This record gives sequence, structure tokens and C-alpha cells, in this order.
Amino acid sequence: MDEEILKIFRSNRDDYISGEELSKTLGISRAAIWKHIEKLRDEGYDISAFPHLGYRLVSVPDKLLPFELKWDLKTEVIGKKIYSYQILESTNTIAYRLAVDGAQEGTVISAEGQTKGRGRMGRSWFSPKGVSIYLSIILKPKIYPFEAPKITLAAAVSVAEAINRTTSLSALIKWPNDILIQDKKVCGILTEMDAEVDRINFLILGIGINVNVNKEILPEGATSIIEELGKEFSRLELAKEVLRELDSNYLIFKRDGFAPILKQWQKLSYLSGRRVRVVCQNRKVEGYVVSIDDLGALVLRLDNGFLERILAGDVVMVR
Ligand code: BTN
Repeated sequence: MDEEILKIFRSNRDDYISGEELSKTLGISRAAIWKHIEKLRDEGYDISAFPHLGYRLVSVPDKLLPFELKWDLKTEVIGKKIYSYQILESTNTIAYRLAVDGAQEGTVISAEGQTKGRGRMGRSWFSPKGVSIYLSIILKPKIYPFEAPKITLAAAVSVAEAINRTTSLSALIKWPNDILIQDKKVCGILTEMDAEVDRINFLILGIGINVNVNKEILPEGATSIIEELGKEFSRLELAKEVLRELDSNYLIFKRDGFAPILKQWQKLSYLSGRRVRVVCQNRKVEGYVVSIDDLGALVLRLDNGFLERILAGDVVMVR
């Protein structure tokens, strides 16, 4: 019912709507309408009420609520089903459970805060409440497990494009999936999957973006949109754009393969031409970044002139 009320407000954006009209259209009493309006106000909706005129929606809360995320989203796969939580351990953990229980492809889990946010390589992810974006998306691509990095790279491209489209900032991708602004990390992506040797059952894309986090509490080497822009930014707007970009890139990937994603990735690559050290498994490899290949592996030119492909690892810049 709350959603029905919001839909009516949305389609009469600048007009007052009387309690009577709402009650007639929705077939519930005016007292019931009042209760729903109070509940929406508690969630952070600013709804003004004037005697003889009725109600008007003034503003919506900057929260990743399913109704708000879905509104005007216009995606084909991502976000048809959205679950939002105030606080949970990790959106990836819930997404994994939902996927095991058969959740449909494109299901999104969002949270206002996480108590056990997880990062790559067993690290934790700083997840304060109400200031950042924590999203997990369930995908079921028909590809081999060894091709999964392609999806992570498509997600990195999507986040960088979403930041660049909605803000005046310039976000770049540090292989494999860190998004940087001005050399500092603003977003991390954690991909987890359930697979057999020759097929992926499902894949969870976990995306964490520091949005309105002040520098006093940001981890070292990290930044946020507010720090770079100098003013607050709408988490809702950015999260919606991430879902739209992801939907569009995922459809491109399914239709045309990895080549168009790789092209976008190259344009957004932070590392191209730089000297790096990659810590992978039990060894370190150093060289200049040439590109990434058609499987998403990082290609380095070593000092002996040979090229080396690296499938996974942590990149450190070398001066
Ligand atoms: C990294 O180490 O860079 C990856 C960080 C990924 C964080 C996101 S926040 C939403 C999702 N839930 C998690 O617990 N982790 C991912």
C-alpha cells in the first residue's frame, strides 16, 4: 500500500492530493491513509499536509529502498527483485543464501550498513551505516568458471562509468576490480561463485562504494565521493546508475561477448603503461602493464622482455 501511495504522489509530483481522493482510489479509509503517510514519514519521506488541499511529496530519503531503487530503473535483468536491509553481516552472504534457494538472476540485495563486510583476499570491508553503498547482485551467466573474471571486469567498468556519468569526477579501474579517484580507492568489488568444473551455478557481485564517508573515518588509501566532490552526493542516484550500467554491460556481454567490455575497460584503465608489482599466490612479479587479455588476465612486460599473464593478485605501484 505504501508503494501505491508513493506511485500516486510520483505521478502528481507538484500537486496536492486530498486524503479523500487517496482513500477512494486505494479503497481504504482516510484514517488508514494517514497511518501509511506517518509510516512513510518515519522512513524519511518528506510529505507535507495542508488542510483542504491534502498531501504532497516534497522529497524522498537518500536510502537504498527497493521502491526507490526500482523507480524509473528501466533495466532488463538487474533489479527486478530487490531486498533492502538496514544492517546485516554482509550483503554477499545473504545474496549467496538467496541464490542457493533459487533467487532469480538479477536479484539485488542492498544494505544501509554491514557488520561483517567482506573484501577480497579474506580482508574486511569498512561498512559504516547510512553513508555508503553496499550492493550484491546475483547473476547466472552461461560461461565457464574460468571466465568469471570477465564479469568482475564488466562490473568494474559499470561502476566507473556510473561515477563518471553522475558526478564530475574521473574514476578509473585498477586491475582487477578497484575503482580509484585521484589514486585513492573509492570502490571495491568482491565476486564469489558457486560452480561446478564446467558451469557456474550462480555468481554474486558484491559492490561497496564509499559515498558520503568523511576522511576522518576513511581507511588509509581510501577516498569517497564526498571527499572528492566537496559536497554530499545522492547514494540513491549513484546506486541506480550502477544498476543501469551493469544491466546494459551484462546484456552487451551476453550478446556480443567480452570484446566491447574490454574496449571500455582499456579506456578506463588506471594501470596501462605503469610499472607494478603483483603479489599472486606465493610469488611476486614485476613489470610494465601492457593490457588485459581476452580472459581478463593482466599482461605484464617483464624486465627480460617476456610477457606474463596474471590471472589473480594484488597490484602495488612501483616508481
Ligand atoms: C575489495 O576488497 O576491494 C572488495 C570489497 C567488496 C565490498 C562489498 S560491500 C557489498 C558486498 N558485501 C560484502 O561483504 N562485500 C561486498
